Amino acid sequence: MDELRARVEDLTHDGIGVVKANDRVYFVDGVLPDELISFKPGKKRKGKFEGKSTKILEASSQRVEAECEYFGICGGCALQHLDSSSQIDYKEKILIDNLTRIGKVSVGEVLSPLRGDMWNYRRKARLGIKNVFKKGGILVGFRERQSSFITSLQRCKTLDIRISDLLPGLHQLITGLSNNSRIPQIEVAAGDHRVALVLRHLESISQADIERLREYAAINDVDFFTQSKGPDSVMPVGPAMPIPLRYSHEQFDIELEFSPLDFIQVNARVNQLMVKQAYDFLEPVASDRILDLFCGLGNFTLPLATSGAEVIGVEGDNYLVSKGRYNAEINQIERASFEKLDLHAGDLSVIADSGKFNKMVIDPPRSGAFQVIQDVIPKIQPERLVYVSCNPATLARDADVMVNHNDYSLTYAGAIDMFPQTAHVESMAVFDRS
Ligand SMILES: C[S@@+](CC[C@H](N)C(=O)[O-])C[C@H]1O[C@@H](n2cnc3c(N)ncnc32)[C@H](O)[C@@H]1O
Repeated sequence: MDELRARVEDLTHDGIGVVKANDRVYFVDGVLPDELISFKPGKKRKGKFEGKSTKILEASSQRVEAECEYFGICGGCALQHLDSSSQIDYKEKILIDNLTRIGKVSVGEVLSPLRGDMWNYRRKARLGIKNVFKKGGILVGFRERQSSFITSLQRCKTLDIRISDLLPGLHQLITGLSNNSRIPQIEVAAGDHRVALVLRHLESISQADIERLREYAAINDVDFFTQSKGPDSVMPVGPAMPIPLRYSHEQFDIELEFSPLDFIQVNARVNQLMVKQAYDFLEPVASDRILDLFCGLGNFTLPLATSGAEVIGVEGDNYLVSKGRYNAEINQIERASFEKLDLHAGDLSVIADSGKFNKMVIDPPRSGAFQVIQDVIPKIQPERLVYVSCNPATLARDADVMVNHNDYSLTYAGAIDMFPQTAHVESMAVFDRS
């Protein structure tokens, strides 16, 4: 079909341009609202017509030159062509649109967004590995945009610089391993002082390869682990036991230990701002009983408990529960405790049966916390709930239940730029009992 010309109307939640032409809606990557573009209409995929931009005829004043040579191919980023302040405006707009449209709630006050550095912020990532003969051998990197191919990265401007600097050597290392077509991924995690890598392998790994990993770890001053099956099978390549990974919450004078596969918030600086903001909204005091649901290894639980309040963290992953307990112990925090419970299934009455809580934090995965909001909130009725969300659509759905079916108002909501350059929207919402 011939090229079409049209003005971009909006951006989707994935950062893709919405363009109307010839009575059809097309989804075009790499363009910005109000831009006049020409584009080649493409196929219908998953019910949507795609288009490929061929020329920006009138550029948006918010357009900037993408800083990374892989932008447009690599699926890691979607918004590098949008200036920094417009990125956060876009995220705030998505948040507020979702709350008002899906949630049918109004926000008392929109909070100033929480932001850190725009680059080199990402301390945790899973990189795909593929041996593709036609592309010259081993590829290491994120998946391409809207495809399952791997973008071969020699550097990444969003990764922690200590991780990005490892990429060229990692290509060489993996190229030199026997059976490297049976190595599907490598996970990287950076603590405040150490970097760890976990090599997933589908077939047994030879002693010669273990030696290569050891040598790489020694030269680059990192810790290497191998993983043959589930999380239980993660093993250091030795010879000495690695120094544990840790990150600090300086303002609370605590350090949390984690293993390379554990969930941690990816952006260290923004995480500190986010936890401090939650703390300030909850104003914990010694007489409080606070419930922290989806608590992970105690990222909110332990800072809150430094106030002397009793804080109970609930989490579905056994490893994280024991990590939370261990972190309470090494930081000598006595009034924090951790329980394992699946918060998406089954009977949650055990929570309400464990006594009164006057304040609450929840920080669920993308699927949200529908069952918690339906079953737990009406029984506990906390005065204040701080809801941290990584998906504005499920936050909005849950906010609807809080406000329109329970006795709460949405006092504050604000965007959090946990993942700059991507379309990912993190946010915090504060609900108060009316
Ligand atoms: C977004 S993370 C937040 C973790 C923690 N609050 C933090 O800041 O590091 C969501 C957490 O929910 C936990 N989770 C996921 N599904 C769960 C379930 N069905 N029941 C309980 N916890 C679950 C995950 O293991 C993860 O630790």
